[in-house]
Amino acid sequence: MKIAVLPGDGIGREIVAQAVKVLDRLRLPLEMHEAPVGGAGVDAAGEPLPGATLRLAKDADAILFGAVGDPRYDALPRAKRPEQAILGLRKALGLFANLRPARVHPELAAASALKPEVVAGLDILIVRELTGDIYFGEPRGIREVAGEREGFDTMRYSEGEIRRIAKVAFEAARKRARRLCSVDKANVLETSQLWREVVGEESRNFPDVELSHMYVDNCAMQLVRDPKQFDVVVTGNMFGDILSDEASMLTGSIGMLPSASLDEKGKGLYEPIHGSAPDIAGKGVANPLATILSAAMMLRYSLARPDAADRIERAVAGVLHDGLRTADIHTAGTRRVGTDEMGDAVAAAL
Ligand code: IPM
Ligand code: MG
Repeated sequence: MKIAVLPGDGIGREIVAQAVKVLDRLRLPLEMHEAPVGGAGVDAAGEPLPGATLRLAKDADAILFGAVGDPRYDALPRAKRPEQAILGLRKALGLFANLRPARVHPELAAASALKPEVVAGLDILIVRELTGDIYFGEPRGIREVAGEREGFDTMRYSEGEIRRIAKVAFEAARKRARRLCSVDKANVLETSQLWREVVGEESRNFPDVELSHMYVDNCAMQLVRDPKQFDVVVTGNMFGDILSDEASMLTGSIGMLPSASLDEKGKGLYEPIHGSAPDIAGKGVANPLATILSAAMMLRYSLARPDAADRIERAVAGVLHDGLRTADIHTAGTRRVGTDEMGDAVAAAL
C-alpha cells in the first residue's frame, strides 16, 4: 500500500513524524513517500502544490497530510498561498466527502471549555462537503465598481453535488445512531433552499434514518448548548469549516480532531482539522493525536485495515487514560509531555 506523506508547514512536520512512527510500529506493508506541500512546496519548487507532489498524491492509495500555512507567505498572491495546496489537492483528487468525527475521551471531559456533563460521552460526526460551495464557486474576484473596489464570491451547489454528499451522510448515519441533521441557511440563501430539497428527496432512500434540518446559526448555538442532541451533521463546505472548528473545542482541544476526505471510490486524504500553528512550530509541544487518529482513519477507510485502526484508537485512549497530556489538553493532576513523547507513548502502547 502506497502512502503519500505530505507534512507541510509549521507543526506539520513534527506531528506527521509521530503518525509515521505509529504506522511503522504496526509493521504493515506500507510504502511511505514524502513530498513538500504548502509553504514547503513554495520553497522547494515555487508552487504550494508542486507537480511532483500532486503526481505522488494521485499515485498513492492514501495521503497523510499535516498542515499548511505560514505568515511568511501572507503577502503572496492567492494562487501562491500555502492554503492553495490543500484546496488544490481536494479539487484535483475529487475528495468531496470530509468526515470530521468529534468524540470526547472520558478523560478529557474536564479539558473542554464546556461543563463536563454537557460533553461527557459526546460522539458526533460532521460530514462536510469539500469541493463545492463558495470555496470554489465562480465568478469570484475583486473588481472596481463605481470608483471603489468590491470583493465577490459565488455560493453554488449543483443537485448532483448535494445528492452525493447527502448519500455519504445517510450511509454514515446508518452505521451509527441513525439520526442525520442537515445544516443550511435556507431562510436566506437559494443555494440552501435547493440543498434542503435535495437532502429531503434523498432521505426517501433511507427511511431508517431520521432526518432533521437546522439553520446554521441555530446549529452553532445548539453545538454549545446541547451537543449530544446530534449524531451525524451534514453541511456545505463553508458552514462545515466553521462548525467543525467549533465542535473541536467540545472535545477539549482542536489538537484532538482527525479527518478523512474521500473521493467516490474511497481513496482519501487524512489530516488533522487544525492548522499549522506557526506560533508553536518547532517547539516540540504540539499535540500529535489528531494526526495519529487521522492515520487510524486512513487504515479504516482507504487501506481496509479496521483492525489496525482500532488498535491505534485504543492505544490513544490508553495513553490518555495513563494521564499523558500535551500542553493544549493539560489539566491539574496529569503529566505534561511534548510532541515526541506523546508519539512514543502511543507507539509503545501498541
Ligand atoms: C480546514 C482548513 C482549510 C479550509 C484551509 C486551510 C484552506 O481551515 O481544513 O478546515 O478552510 O478548508
Ligand atoms: Mg477549517
